[in-house]
Amino acid sequence: MAEDLSIVKGTKEEQYQSIIPQIRALIEGEPDLIANLANIAAALKEQFGWFWVGFYLVKGDELVLGPFQGPVACTRIRKGRGVCGTCWANKETIIVPDVEKFPGHIACSSLSKSEIVIPAVLYNEVVAVLDVDSDSYDSFDETDKVYLEKIVEMISF
Ligand code: SME
Repeated sequence: MAEDLSIVKGTKEEQYQSIIPQIRALIEGEPDLIANLANIAAALKEQFGWFWVGFYLVKGDELVLGPFQGPVACTRIRKGRGVCGTCWANKETIIVPDVEKFPGHIACSSLSKSEIVIPAVLYNEVVAVLDVDSDSYDSFDETDKVYLEKIVEMISF
């Protein structure tokens, strides 16, 4: 499937290079965080067709579901729990090629097979995470890490 799409849409890297200026244009000049997170989730979902794309926001001692695109998802995740809570605790991007092999993975949907979670860090504290789920195994690699981190860095929290 990914191979077929690359004929039409370009390589993953080309797709990121095309979408990054679009995302920058969408969010620059708009101060509202929720509006920007919503548009970023929509732009990524449209471009890549991933199963689920969304943000969790740090609120007190939990991550709380923010703007997303895809099926309904769990609303609250504690620090250190699941891929998202582990990303929050470690302040590092996590790539999970097979969610069933990640200890403590929180399955919002059994259709999700691989995942990448990127932290948004402000003054050395995680304030949100970007979570992307795929319904195929092994969908995410260093290219996704590099470009999704760039996208998260563009957001003003
Ligand atoms: N799988 C995530 C939970 C969020 S949903 O995938 C949208 C986790 O383990 O933290």
